[in-house]
Amino acid sequence: MSHRVPVRVTVNGVARELYVEPRLLLVHALRDELGLTGTHVGCDTSNCGACTVHLDGQAVKSCTVLAVQADGAEVTTIEGLGSPDDLHPVQEAFWEHHGLQCGYCTPGMIMAGADLLRRNPNPSEHEVRHALEGNLCRCTGYHNIVQAILAAAQTSGGEVRTPEPTQEGRENAETFAQEGLGA
Ligand code: FES
Ligand code: FES
Repeated sequence: MSHRVPVRVTVNGVARELYVEPRLLLVHALRDELGLTGTHVGCDTSNCGACTVHLDGQAVKSCTVLAVQADGAEVTTIEGLGSPDDLHPVQEAFWEHHGLQCGYCTPGMIMAGADLLRRNPNPSEHEVRHALEGNLCRCTGYHNIVQAILAAAQTSGGEVRTPEPTQEGRENAETFAQEGLGA
């Protein structure tokens, strides 16, 4: 039987406890252990950015992070950025400006774009293109993606909302707190 270690992480506002192999990558923990398949795997070379999530508020390629390194951290995935009834401004702008075709790169592009606007609410086109250098798209030619992020900057000021914890998340957090583990 493989050796597993506990990881306690808050994902999209919900406190989660996982037992994972130490070598498991965060992207696989999100997809395979938590069923959050909006975070994609597009390469095995850390080049494509399809796996981009926010780790403690910073965009990271989740294929470059071990799940155990996220212990105690807050992770936001594309599922937690907005909802179908309440899209994040970057999601809304991708919709309005046709920032996607096949959609494979889109979650990573949106997470990278939201991270840029958090750091720089009014970027130039050059700054948007620079921020997306780690995210590859084989469909769009990037133009509409860049236009979408520039448009989102106009409408949102770059605010990245964090979701409200669910009842399940609050209960998990209380349990962790009682165990002295935090969450
Ligand atoms: Fe992470 Fe490609 S799957 S960079
Ligand atoms: Fe297809 Fe970007 S929309 S890879």
